[in-house]
Amino acid sequence: MAQKIIIDTDPGQDDAVAILLALASPEIEVLGVVAVAGNVPLALTEVNARKIVELAGRTDVPVFAGCDRPLARPLVTAEHVHGKTGLDGIDLPAPGLPLQAQHGVEFIIEALRREAAGSVTLVPIGPLTNIAEAFRRAPDIIGRVKRIVLMGGAYFEVGNITPAAEFNIYVDPEAASEVFASGVPIVMMPLDVTHRALTSRDWVEAMRALPGRCGPAVASWTDFFERYDREKYGSSGAPLHDPCTIAWLIRPELFQGREINVEIETEGRFTTGMTVADWWRVSGRAPNALFIRDLDRDGMFALLTERLARLP
Ligand code: RIB
Ligand code: CA
Repeated sequence: MAQKIIIDTDPGQDDAVAILLALASPEIEVLGVVAVAGNVPLALTEVNARKIVELAGRTDVPVFAGCDRPLARPLVTAEHVHGKTGLDGIDLPAPGLPLQAQHGVEFIIEALRREAAGSVTLVPIGPLTNIAEAFRRAPDIIGRVKRIVLMGGAYFEVGNITPAAEFNIYVDPEAASEVFASGVPIVMMPLDVTHRALTSRDWVEAMRALPGRCGPAVASWTDFFERYDREKYGSSGAPLHDPCTIAWLIRPELFQGREINVEIETEGRFTTGMTVADWWRVSGRAPNALFIRDLDRDGMFALLTERLARLP
């Protein structure tokens, strides 16, 4: 039985690879893709989401636009990382796939009320605004969510948008705080593990050599995306942050972590957006997330290669 998921996303080259992996994998049924403001404004992330779904030849998957700004703060974007379109690296044609008229938050609520309780996994790979807004508007759906598998946060690896905070959490810390306090089981992919999911030159060239259009697109996206981390960290390879969520759903044994308490700082002068992860269990606070800290990098990239090769 395929796992039913809703992807909430701010494409983003790494978001694009995550979406393609999900659409290529029979273990996953994507009920819908909901765009959120994050890497670039919503007007761009919703177009990018439609381009990616169309590239995969999956026009059966509906794409929605969700919230265009955080719950309580001005939007912070990351064009310096993802380029002005948010999906720089390859020029894709304007999407023919229409944007759904329904607001993405309403779609999340309706889907969770329609599907069997405990059967839908939410996969947010951008700021958590849409998830928190759905929980605010319809508290009855919270108990119906099977699990949240998210990319966000950092602890030992510290922040990427500030010294203390990872981007997805930093953009909407109030939303993250409400999601982490919701009681829904959470699997968290922080920078601690996603910075280990680095592409290699051989892997990128293998993508470029794939027949069809998706492999070469992934190669172009990761080439563009890599330059930022190379300049900043001196690392070689692009960190495939968001695909770690989908890879966990397909092969959780590739990942290692610990159930711990994670709180979100919303009032810090220097630490707003920090995920305060009680890895050593010193706080006495109840665990609320599986904090993933390591992965089998080669196993993950073997999975990516095998699945992305299935796409057109
Ligand atoms: O900090 C990495 C996260 O921020 C990823 O989800 C990337 O796509 C950006 O949204
Ligand atoms: Ca993202």
